[in-house]
Amino acid sequence: MSNSDVAKCPKNPIPEYAFIGRSNVGKSSLINMLTQRKSLAKTSGRPGKTQLINHFKINNEWFLVDLPGYGYAKTSKTSKRVFQKFITEYFSKRTQLICGFVLVDIRHEPQKVDLEFMQWLGENQIPFCIVFTKADKLPPSQIDKHVNAYRDKLLEDVWEEMPKHFVTSSSKAIGREEVINYIGQINKD
Ligand code: GTP
Ligand code: MG
Repeated sequence: MSNSDVAKCPKNPIPEYAFIGRSNVGKSSLINMLTQRKSLAKTSGRPGKTQLINHFKINNEWFLVDLPGYGYAKTSKTSKRVFQKFITEYFSKRTQLICGFVLVDIRHEPQKVDLEFMQWLGENQIPFCIVFTKADKLPPSQIDKHVNAYRDKLLEDVWEEMPKHFVTSSSKAIGREEVINYIGQINKD
């Protein structure tokens, strides 16, 4: 189901997991990788592809939720505001939400918009994990270095510890088991 209104999201009382992050970071691609479906969620090389709240029901057990990206400079101010409103409403009102996955591109330094969003989640006591995306674009030797630099920045910021995190690549199917097992584990608990 796709829609632009949190109030109209599915009423099913099943757990859901939402994917959020800047436009083009790879949210929709990650959903396709996790579900092993090439084009379940629509992806694009151009930022701003996902414009609605998209619920994908998995095995009648949980929902994976694809959301529009935040913080893309070229989106018009109006659509930025609209997306921002969706996203805040979604995270603050959706009682079925068990965990948000905040995606960040593993190649980049921590970005203000991501840090602010994580801080907002923390302040609102919304559980989240960090998913590093596009790990195939870094040589393996650089991966830990980038994750550690991210950790250092978070710890120097407001965080006392690094949130649970995953290193993934949708094109190489890296990190699939880890994310799925984690969802399976919290579902059981
Ligand atoms: P919006 O819907 O616009 O917010 O973007 P999104 O976060 O859903 O990104 P999307 O999944 O559409 O991917 C954006 C671009 O990044 C596409 O060209 C993807 O092919 C590419 N991409 C996504 N994940 C990966 C990855 O793990 N590795 C590589 N190399 N490219 C990726
Ligand atoms: Mg998308």
